[in-house]
Amino acid sequence: MQAKDRIILALDVDSEQEALKLAEQLSAHVGAFKVGMQLFNSAGPQIVDMIHKLGGRVFVDLKFHDIPNTVAAAGRVITRLGCHMFNVHAAGGREMMKAVAGASREEAAKLGSTPPITLAVTVLTSISQQELEQDMLIPGMPVEDVVVKWAQMARDCGISGVVCSPREISAIRNACGPDFKIVTPGIRPLWAAANDQKRITTPRDALNLGADYMVIGRPITHAEDPVQAAKRIIDELEG
Ligand code: C5P
Repeated sequence: MQAKDRIILALDVDSEQEALKLAEQLSAHVGAFKVGMQLFNSAGPQIVDMIHKLGGRVFVDLKFHDIPNTVAAAGRVITRLGCHMFNVHAAGGREMMKAVAGASREEAAKLGSTPPITLAVTVLTSISQQELEQDMLIPGMPVEDVVVKWAQMARDCGISGVVCSPREISAIRNACGPDFKIVTPGIRPLWAAANDQKRITTPRDALNLGADYMVIGRPITHAEDPVQAAKRIIDELEG
């Protein structure tokens, strides 16, 4: 994989116009664009096709979590959009993950296209140990162990990989093997501002830890020259 293909640019904007401006500028310099709830819900699913037309691939970050039949149906629809990746919550359980992984592959086979990479979100990085124990009623287990167990469960269900914190990469890589895809946010080159990210990792360190893809937003989108910022990150990954 080329270094540029590891970069997933977070399109955290709520207008089609802003998103397309970034996609146009950066489609030759990043591997994919992440369209999350903010943009998808304001610009609609057609934003995916518009980005495709500009030569970009899309990670549809909607984190599905519902009964298996509903999530499988949503997975089919998202697969039809021709996206590169989409995700679900591992908390939806085994049957849900099996259903969506199978449905997405089946739909891609019908279309004669490459199936999207399916990703699971394990424990959100915003959830503390205390919340895990007291509110979610998962006592007696460090949050990192829950993350690894749920990543293994996702893999066993046919899900292609996970989105996780850079801190969790090594443990997941060890537990889930070399082919399991690992996507990580919280990436900051040394020259970029941390913004609201608390535990950050440089692109190079994330790669060395075993990440396949990195979700990067503001270090590129808020840079004076976004294309130069993306190129600088690619150089660091290659170096
Ligand atoms: O601008 P920045 O590089 O911080 O953007 C990171 C992206 O990754 C945002 O879209 C954010 O929602 C997402 N993300 C994250 N931390 C997580 C999960 C997702 O920053 N634990």
